[in-house]
Amino acid sequence: MISAEQSHFNNRAEDYETDIGADYPQTLKWQLIKKYTDENDMVVDVGGANGRHAVDLAQAGRRVTCIDLSLGMLNKMRRRKSFLALEDHLKPKPIVAKAQSLPLASNSVDLAYCYATLLLIPDQEKAVAELARIVRPGGHVIVDIARPWNLGWIYWRHHYKKLGFPGIFPLNIKTTQKLFSDLSCVAVETIATGVLTQLLYIPFLEKKTSLRHWIHNVHETPDLDGKITAKFPKLANREYIVLRKDNRL
Ligand SMILES: C[S@@+](CC[C@H](N)C(=O)[O-])C[C@H]1O[C@@H](n2cnc3c(N)ncnc32)[C@H](O)[C@@H]1O
Repeated sequence: MISAEQSHFNNRAEDYETDIGADYPQTLKWQLIKKYTDENDMVVDVGGANGRHAVDLAQAGRRVTCIDLSLGMLNKMRRRKSFLALEDHLKPKPIVAKAQSLPLASNSVDLAYCYATLLLIPDQEKAVAELARIVRPGGHVIVDIARPWNLGWIYWRHHYKKLGFPGIFPLNIKTTQKLFSDLSCVAVETIATGVLTQLLYIPFLEKKTSLRHWIHNVHETPDLDGKITAKFPKLANREYIVLRKDNRL
């Protein structure tokens, strides 16, 4: 039987973004996966949707596997012009699977990343453990972890519960650190975003002011939101965390 999550994301497959996006939180996702990989590296995108990042990464010469629980999303990737234009050996390999149980060998890839997906998974510690399992010693895992003290979650919890999802599941900093140390991974880079973004959930501010432009000025890296969030990471909407798997394993 198809789950509420599969049904929702199958239905969103046609209109889900294929562009990487221009604002700082979106470009950051792209910059991190580029920074921690080289040409010909084996890379796995978990919750990769319609190949929003996987296809561009394949164009940059990485060997990408795109994993998602939504067949609709992966089928959309296969129909994209930019996917079809790739040479066969570079086309991202689509696999329908859950992040909590990845059908890939241990220590087999250079980088595994998961964006905008973990917060939807009640047992996300299993998903993070799977990302760490498939990465080779010395390789990297990149995740975004939702932090609990952000007002934006009031909106998103309501939104996803209405769709029949179990809810959303932010993690605090202490729980996250414990999770990573249990997996023999060390954080090598952490970047928080979203303290100011939560103001955009106040309809008046989003619709009647230029607040979005002001806090997410596309010409600034980091943008104002990124600069303020760096000072108050506990109130972040997301922390982007790069982990390196212990070399001695
Ligand atoms: C909000 S989209 C994020 C897509 C993309 N990573 C991005 O950053 O824009 C979440 C994606 O994760 C997938 N997803 C949700 N729960 C999942 C799970 N437990 N295992 C694998 N994929 C999942 C959904 O089907 C959807 O395509």
